[in-house]
Order: sequence, then structure tokens, then C-alpha cells
Amino acid sequence: MSFPILCSFFLAVSLFIPSVHSATAEQWRTRSIYQIITDRFALPAGANTNNCDVDAQTWCGGTWNTIRENLDYVQNMGFTAIWISPVQQNYQGPRTAYGDPYHGYWIQDLTKLNDKFGTSDDLKALIAELHKRDMYIMVDVVVNNVMATSTQPDYSRYMFNDVSFYHPYCPIQWGNTTSEQDCWLGDLNVTLPDLDTTNPTVTSRYNAWIKDFVQEYEIDGLRIDAAKHVDKEFWPGFCGSAGVFCIGEVFGGLEVEDVAQWQGPLDSVLNFPLYNNLLEGFKIPGPGNITAVTDTLTQSKQLFKDTTVLGNFLENQDVPRFASQSVDPQSMYNAMTFTFMYDGIPIVYYGQEFSFNGAGDPKNREPLWPSGYVSTGASEIMSKLNQLRNFLVNTTQWATSETTVLTASQYGIAFVKGDVISIMTNIGSPPQNGTNIAVPSPYDPNTGFTDIFSCKQWVTGSKGFLDAEYTLGGKPIVLVLSTLLDQSPLCKGELITSQGLGANNNGAEASWSPRWSSATAAVSLLLALPAMW
Ligand SMILES: *[C@@H]1O[C@H](CO)[C@@H](O)[C@H](O)[C@H]1NC(C)=O
Ligand SMILES: *[C@@H]1O[C@H](CO)[C@@H](O)[C@H](O)[C@H]1NC(C)=O
Ligand SMILES: *[C@@H]1O[C@H](CO)[C@@H](O)[C@H](O)[C@H]1NC(C)=O
Ligand SMILES: *[C@@H]1O[C@H](CO)[C@@H](O)[C@H](O)[C@H]1NC(C)=O
Ligand SMILES: *[C@@H]1O[C@H](CO)[C@@H](O)[C@H](O)[C@H]1NC(C)=O
Repeated sequence: MSFPILCSFFLAVSLFIPSVHSATAEQWRTRSIYQIITDRFALPAGANTNNCDVDAQTWCGGTWNTIRENLDYVQNMGFTAIWISPVQQNYQGPRTAYGDPYHGYWIQDLTKLNDKFGTSDDLKALIAELHKRDMYIMVDVVVNNVMATSTQPDYSRYMFNDVSFYHPYCPIQWGNTTSEQDCWLGDLNVTLPDLDTTNPTVTSRYNAWIKDFVQEYEIDGLRIDAAKHVDKEFWPGFCGSAGVFCIGEVFGGLEVEDVAQWQGPLDSVLNFPLYNNLLEGFKIPGPGNITAVTDTLTQSKQLFKDTTVLGNFLENQDVPRFASQSVDPQSMYNAMTFTFMYDGIPIVYYGQEFSFNGAGDPKNREPLWPSGYVSTGASEIMSKLNQLRNFLVNTTQWATSETTVLTASQYGIAFVKGDVISIMTNIGSPPQNGTNIAVPSPYDPNTGFTDIFSCKQWVTGSKGFLDAEYTLGGKPIVLVLSTLLDQSPLCKGELITSQGLGANNNGAEASWSPRWSSATAAVSLLLALPAMW
């Protein structure tokens, strides 16, 4: 075995490479995240793929190694970061009324890694592989609480090993902020003893722990579980010690003001208000309340310190899958387009690309392997959106520019961010007349745009208007200034016609509409307006 020699060689080399992995909010803003529950993402080669019953609430066999072995799958969809479930040691006792801690959130000893998911070297190998691909790692951390099965656990096996480090047991009185922060989450089957984060010993140990953890594993960012259940004063010290981007979970948060107050103590938050209101606006059947969406955007602009680093999502491990709440795939495609093209960091929960439809926990934690990791309608849309976004954040000021709503109606909404106009509708798949969205763009008449999905040319009409018609169904439309898109790899249809489908740059579309030359497009479409699709 030449291992020792190899290792010392790499050690010697790595001494000369400074670590550059402490990513800031500015860096994360340009990324897009694929969220993974480690236990459910991938199995080792040759394992039985019929092994996972979500209702059993137990381990199904995913590990850090199997994530590493399947990173091509994630990267090929254009994601530039992953968020993985918590990595620290969990509850070690017998099965509880809510099963086993396959999800990783039932923390016991923070000083140890969770051996169900691999070794320290496995985790480091995953992160090294991500960094080699210029991808970031975000790790989920649980700081508010540990897990136990009684109100008087034996704390000797926890990093915080004395009862004095915890708030005394009390059940949470919802709506009472002090109670939400000091009392215990969970119930009497599974208690979640609440750390006293105003205790200076707790604070300094937490800060020292996170600093070491982030440095040792070269973590790029933290997703903070149950952030609103900890006092706000705790977070600047903790995230400052970590030295990386911190995005917090302020669960539920319908109202922007309830969530926005946590940006400041934390770099950013998961955008629950947008999530809730996108459902109101886009799910089918649903209220189709686009006003709820526009109200959220208006309030977000006023109340968030910085909308461009918010974490925008349609699904996660705690909420029902989008497809369990909406029967029409186009409603997800349109809402998903919103989460990518609006201010902030798009986050896709694994399995969204297969329109998994598990309702709440535990049904929304499906194993990914039965899907076969093949391409789908949803994954093609994600790939296109990622490809565009990656191009824009690299070559323009797109990531820091703010979204402006151009128009909204009962049928949908259009906004502009940089030189990109996105038009999203809630009408669903069936073709419809009379549901047009007339978009007053800020551009001069005769300005050429290209829709990244159809690769068709659009041209602004009089006063800069663009008219979206849905005679072919309610698909999302993302129009990029053609002179800009020409510099990207997207919609290089000429290659397709001359070289066949094999030259398709991302393998996304089976039938590719040949791209018109700008001159032809301008003339034909000016005559043909408003036949845009
Ligand atoms: C809120 O919760 C705290 C902590 O449990 C408690 O001391 C206080 O009395 C509660 N306030 C109200 C108004 O119930
Ligand atoms: C404990 O779990 C059982 C079985 O799921 C449930 O019926 C019971 O209500 C739970 N008890 C508490 C205190 O939540
Ligand atoms: C739509 O949402 C707004 C909140 O922005 C609310 O005031 C209004 O009542 C909702 N309308 C319907 C029909 O649900
Ligand atoms: C963006 O820029 C980075 C760094 O220069 C490069 O590694 C990456 O391939 C670029 N991505 C795109 C989509 O252009
Ligand atoms: C829309 O209108 C056109 C022209 O009047 C008609 O041919 C078509 O069938 C209509 N489609 C729907 C879905 O109503």
C-alpha cells in the first residue's frame, strides 16, 4: 500500500495551497443550491433499491460517499452548491415514537460526526470533490436544541454535559416569543432540550465549536435550523466565529415583517413568505392570488435588509411537496422560474426534479434512487434556468440588481431583473385564449429578446410592450435581451440544425426550434405580433 507516501505527498502539496473556502454572502448570492437529505439521496453501487419505506422513518442507506459519487448528477443540472442535512452525532437510543434520526436533526454530541453517514475522511472527501468542481458546501447545523426522550435526560453524553447549560423544561406557548425561545420544541415522546444561549459558557463553547468545525472541514456556508427559537443576540457572535454565510430557518413566517427581522442577526433567511405566497398565487387548484405575491415583493423590498441573498424555495424537508399541493406541472414550472429569476439564491429540494408528491413529514423525504436519476421536464427547466443564471452572475451585475415588477394580473406576473424579463402564469397546462399578459417593458420598441425555453425571438412592440399569449398553454417565459444571450451557450439553435441533436448544449430539449436570425425575427414578428409563443 502506497497510502502513507501518497498522503504525505498531498499533505506537502496542500501546505502550499491557501484555503480559500470561507464564502461570504456576496459569494453565495451567485450560487444555486440543491438541498439533500443525506440518507435519501443515493445508495452505494449494488445496494437493494427497494429498501426504503418513508413511513418507517428509519435509515435507508445514503452516505457522504454516495453523495460524492453522484455529484455529476447535481452539477449537470447546473447547481453550484449543495446543502446537506446535519452531520453531527445524533441520538443513539432505541427507536422512538417518531422513528430513528435518519434526517440528522436529533443532535446528541456535537463534537462527533454521525457515523451512519460516514467518517471524517468521507466528509472531507465530499467537500474536496465539491471544491474541485468549484461548488460550495452548505451544512445544516442545529444549535437551538439537542434531542432526548424525557424531560430529565442524562446529559453526560452531550457536548453540553450539564443541566445548567439548558433552559428548564416547559412546553412552548406559541405566539409568546420568550416561550418560543426558552421552552422546548418537540413533545414528550421526543423532547428537544433547549440550550440557554444567554449563558456565556454556552455561547463561548458554541462559538469555539463552530469555528473549529468550519475550518477543519472547509465548510462554505451554514443553514441554521430553528433560528427564531434562539435569541437574536446570539447569532452575530456565532456566525462571526464561523466566518461564513449563515442562512437561517424562520419557519412558517407568512408575514414578511416576522421573517425580515432575522436578517441582520443572520446574513440571510429562508424565504418562507415568498414560499407561502407563491403557493397562493400558483397552485392548481388554488386561489390564484397573485396579489398575495405582489404584496410580498413590495414588503420584501421595504423590510428585508438585502433581498438578493434570500433563500428562495418551493419545497424542503418540513413542508409538503409542491406536487402534493398542485395538480398541474406548469404551476410548478412557473413558480420555480420565479424562485430562480427573482432576487436571491434559488434552492431546489432533491426530488423536486421528479415532481415527487409526498405530503408532510415523513412522506416528503422520499428516496431519490427509484427515480433512476434521469432527465425530466422539471430538471430540463432547472438546467436552463441554472445555465442562464450562472452565465448572468458571471458576466453581468445581475446578482446584485433588484427585481422590478412590470405588471401583474389574475393570470400572472412579469418582472425585470437586469436585462431579463420573466413572465410567469398560473393558468396551467391547457391552452387558453383571453388570458394574455401584456408586459410594459422598459425597453424601446423593436428591441429583440430570446425566450430561453423555446429559443424563440420576441420583439418589443409600440411603447416597449411584450404580449404573452397562452394559446399553447401556460408555460413560463424568460426573455433575455438577445444581444446579451448571444454571448451565452443558450439557444445556439443554428448548431442544432447543422449538426443534429447531439450538439444540443445541455441535452435538455428533444425538439429544438431553430433560432431565427435577428433580422428575420424582427420583420416577421413585427408583422405577426402578438403571436409570441
Ligand atoms: C411567555 O412565556 C414566558 C416563558 O415561558 C412566561 O414566563 C410568560 O409568562 C409568558 N407570557 C405570557 C403573556 O403568557
Ligand atoms: C407519542 O407518540 C404516540 C404515537 O405516535 C402518540 O399517540 C402520542 O400522542 C404521543 N405523545 C405525545 C405526548 O405527544
Ligand atoms: C389575496 O392575498 C391578499 C394578501 O396579500 C389578501 O389580502 C386577499 O384577501 C387575498 N385574496 C383572496 C381572494 O384570497
Ligand atoms: C463562471 O466563472 C467561474 C469562475 O471564473 C468559472 O469557473 C465558471 O465556469 C463560470 N461559469 C459559467 C456558467 O460561465
Ligand atoms: C383561441 O382562439 C382561436 C382563434 O379564435 C381558436 O382557433 C382557438 O381554438 C382558441 N383556443 C382556445 C383554447 O379557446
